[in-house]
Amino acid sequence: MAKFRLPTAPACDKSLTFRPDTPWLAPLAGYSDLPFRLLCRELGACVATTEMISAKGLCYESPGTLPLLQSTTADQPLVVQLFGAEADFLGRAVAELRQAGFGYFDLNMGCSVPKVMRQQAGAALLAEPEKALACARAMIQEAGPGRVGCKLRLGLCEQQICLPDLALRLEEAGAAWITLHPRYARQGFQGQADRSWLTRLAGQLSIPLIASGDLFSAQDGVNCLETSGASCVMYARGALKNPYIFSDHQAILQKKDHPSEHSLRRLLLRHLKLVESYPPSARDQTARMRGILSSYVRGQPFARAMRIAFCQARQWFELYDIVDRFLPPQA
Ligand SMILES: Cc1cc2nc3c(=O)[nH]c(=O)nc-3n(C[C@H](O)[C@H](O)[C@H](O)COP(=O)(O)O)c2cc1C
Repeated sequence: MAKFRLPTAPACDKSLTFRPDTPWLAPLAGYSDLPFRLLCRELGACVATTEMISAKGLCYESPGTLPLLQSTTADQPLVVQLFGAEADFLGRAVAELRQAGFGYFDLNMGCSVPKVMRQQAGAALLAEPEKALACARAMIQEAGPGRVGCKLRLGLCEQQICLPDLALRLEEAGAAWITLHPRYARQGFQGQADRSWLTRLAGQLSIPLIASGDLFSAQDGVNCLETSGASCVMYARGALKNPYIFSDHQAILQKKDHPSEHSLRRLLLRHLKLVESYPPSARDQTARMRGILSSYVRGQPFARAMRIAFCQARQWFELYDIVDRFLPPQA
């Protein structure tokens, strides 16, 4: 097997935190790249996760994989999420990542997209607890104690529920935290996240439990903390739509009268600036940011017109012009 040429992670002495006032940014394939993680951290995310990265892709130095590990000093503490179905590859990937300076890892056992399930990875592991445990053990062995978490769903479907057994066995194997998105894999994003499972599991685990699922606003997150017994929450689609969700979360916990101060202009410009500073990959960033910026302005009276303008932008500088046109600087 070829030796990796991994990007080196910046030195980090920041530990993970699992408290109600330390919300996490979820792994988000196609979105939780370095610029977005930095944006969310600036707005109050305390821990961030990379998107899922193929352990095999890492081992074979697949060109699409290594850029996903781009990081910087401000991007700490960082959890690298891996997916795979072979303990050997997962262990090797963690060993190399540790050597390159990465400190924390997560095993994806929740992704139900066909591309991942076909490889017997992601949520497919929920149907094979022994294999899932072997994968987790291989990662834990290479990472050391306190460094590996597992992100699960309830099971493949109602007839195949793997909780709480699998979570408890993962804890016994040395997992340092469990993240639960309480839906079945077959559901995708349909129906509602069933928070009663969080409560059940929180009562049985001794390690921290992170809640994920249908946390579309900071109030959803705080309600979930109050009712589920989870240690902390992880924002996913809520953060994609509104990265201020993290500062709103802090404001609610601090019992401030108003949500945190939002400035759409500042948000859009900051995201553009971060992408310029840390270009995520060779892909066309103008096309990519058109969609991302449009999602930030959804719900505004000018959202449709702005979205149409973004759609027509072909050059990077045009994105700035559109922001200036629709969200002029305050006099
Ligand atoms: C666009 C998108 C990409 C995602 N990518 C990942 C991923 O790479 N790894 C993972 O474990 N979960 C992934 N998820 C699941 C989220 O991390 C989260 O668990 C899920 O969206 C439920 O939270 P929410 O309902 O608050 O969005 C993704 C979800 C979305 C919407």
